[in-house]
Amino acid sequence: MNRIFSGIQPTGNLHLGNYLGAVRNWVDLQHDYECIYCVVDLHAITVWQDPAELRDSTREVTAALIAAGIDPEKNIIFNQSQNPDHAQLAWIFNCVARLGWLNRMTQFKEKAGKHRENASVGLYAYPNLMAADILAYKGTHVPVGEDQKQHLELCRDIAQKFNNDFAVDFFPITEPLILGEATRVMSLRDGSAKMSKSDPSDYSRINFTDGPDEIALKIRKARTDPEPLPSEAAGFEGRPEAANLVGIYAALSGQALDAALAEVGGRQFSEFKKMLSDVCVGVLGPIGTEMRRLVAEPHHIDAILHRGAERARAISRPILDEVMDIVGFVHPLDD
Ligand code: TYM
Repeated sequence: MNRIFSGIQPTGNLHLGNYLGAVRNWVDLQHDYECIYCVVDLHAITVWQDPAELRDSTREVTAALIAAGIDPEKNIIFNQSQNPDHAQLAWIFNCVARLGWLNRMTQFKEKAGKHRENASVGLYAYPNLMAADILAYKGTHVPVGEDQKQHLELCRDIAQKFNNDFAVDFFPITEPLILGEATRVMSLRDGSAKMSKSDPSDYSRINFTDGPDEIALKIRKARTDPEPLPSEAAGFEGRPEAANLVGIYAALSGQALDAALAEVGGRQFSEFKKMLSDVCVGVLGPIGTEMRRLVAEPHHIDAILHRGAERARAISRPILDEVMDIVGFVHPLDD
């Protein structure tokens, strides 16, 4: 059986990269698969989070997922800390994964930067928790943006080593699903940097909560070059900003990159940016409006998360019981 699992951090505003790299694909996948979507608050605290802001962000991200079209009845949506099985399995994986594997993780190097000695242990062990998120449900497919690829390779290594170490065929070897025309959305200010929540410039990204005027302004200010747009992908050579904006346009207008290039090739950026703003406002505008409506009812959101966590745990608990047995822990179900 295929089971989709994916996660998103409740740290500040969601942006267009989250939408095109992940959330939009989550919406599509819900029609064909059993899907579990997790707001990963345990991952969030690997760097400092103000408690009140963390609570607000958790509700806001949940509202964004629902506003984007994920049905919380058909799928499971919950926040990670409400299901203790993630942390329990993560500890076991801390003892399966090797230091050498974690030392290769580029995201840790980027996030810890020059202050490696001062980074939390949690930040270092982050990918083990991520593997636990997925494998606590025996997740088979994980829809993510390209930046998560290395973490998912580690998840496969952990599953494989666990199966080998204990001579079992227990955990699936999870497949990443990196889908669409914008799997790595870049900053609007610098075509060589990923669009990210942590970029100090708000002009680098388009947020779910930006109104039409803000979206249009950010796209108008987006960095470009003086040439008209190319008609073929080969024409993006040395033009990362053009490649990024056309990729975003293709994804938002539901076209393959070639079709989008056939439409916009030869146009000046000034004209193209207007087209891009319109399609962006058309997609994100209604999501932002619905999100604001949902956030105004925090009790409703909390109830969805709580119910989601119960449903999630009903799946993970029997799997964890088996893990405990395989590892050799004495536990209540032992016979
Ligand atoms: P996070 O919260 O950074 O991002 C959530 C999702 O958005 C994607 N994404 C992007 N896609 C394209 N372009 C971008 N600029 C961009 N920025 C973000 C991410 O790839 C991701 O799919 N470690 C994960 C959360 C996580 C998780 C998991 C994911 C925890 N456990 C288990 C999958 C399975 C993260 O920090 O995502």
